[in-house]
Amino acid sequence: MTFGHGSYIDYPRWPQLAREAYSLDLSHVRENVPEYVEGIVISGMGGSGIVGDIVRDYLTFLGYDKPVIVVKDLQLPKFVANRKFLVVTVSYSGNTTETIRCLEECIRRNIPVVTVSTGGKLEELARQHSVPHVKIPKATAPRYGLPCLLYPTLRVVELVERSLASKIREHVEASIKAIEEAIEDYLTHVKELSRKLVNKLAMIYVPQPLISIGIRFKNDMNENAKQPVVVCPLPESEHNDIAIHARKHDFLEVVLVRSRSLAGTEYEKHVNAVEQILRQYGVDIHALDLKGGNVLAEIMYGITLLGMLTIDVAHLAGIDPVKIEVIDNVKKYVSK
Ligand code: F6R
Repeated sequence: MTFGHGSYIDYPRWPQLAREAYSLDLSHVRENVPEYVEGIVISGMGGSGIVGDIVRDYLTFLGYDKPVIVVKDLQLPKFVANRKFLVVTVSYSGNTTETIRCLEECIRRNIPVVTVSTGGKLEELARQHSVPHVKIPKATAPRYGLPCLLYPTLRVVELVERSLASKIREHVEASIKAIEEAIEDYLTHVKELSRKLVNKLAMIYVPQPLISIGIRFKNDMNENAKQPVVVCPLPESEHNDIAIHARKHDFLEVVLVRSRSLAGTEYEKHVNAVEQILRQYGVDIHALDLKGGNVLAEIMYGITLLGMLTIDVAHLAGIDPVKIEVIDNVKKYVSK
């Protein structure tokens, strides 16, 4: 059952969308961003908000020594106005109330801001207030347009942190290849896992530095398959979530994310410990080995592969992955 959409909606186009979005003309942004920033704030919700999580995980791994603050809220932290932060407001539609509020706050308090959207109120406000706007290509729905949202945001980061630009460019290219590899790997040897996850509660154990993969998997499973997921960051979940495996729970399926970028770090030991101890308790673990050669590529590999998985889970459950009527109803209510 594909509900009138191609089996994997926009996923087969992700590499092409990524290249297109990364090569947008941003000269108007370059001329309007500050020469120096003390930190970066990324504001957005849901399928747009995940951009902030990915950029934070990636820049942290690069050793970026300034704060990267992810705002999934109606307001910015108070300290943002008093310091030289750049705010990037990201909304696929450009019409999300929370993100519009953050943009309005930047305009009101004179905080440097760049907007990223396909159009909507964000673009309109940007035009009225001479805020540099990045108009991005369209997809079937916000979450399927992740490459359109992420890659231009990384370009904005390059423009304010020029010393990182060549490293980011190199990693972006590898990450697009990782998306291609994830699509291939999913179809050839991961697809079967979707059968095990239908109508189950998936717990995803994921090292904290790659938490964006867990957050995105939860969001994709929620929105595509209309199923819950528990995100278990390591090491924190070693102090709570793992306790439940002392009992057997038939409704659970466990996914464990393993990363080569973290090989040789303390995180590797924590991932191995959880894997081994859970197996001793008889837990059947579905291990996901990330590929890509750098953290950005690994994140996009994991997100692409798990995203496709949630679409198959939706189809197997007889659910339309695209329709998200409960979200639409709440959005209508709050925007009244
Ligand atoms: C829908 C989706 C949602 C939206 C969120 C914010 O595909 O992924 O999580 O991303 O409701 O809307 P936008 O992205 O338009 O700001």
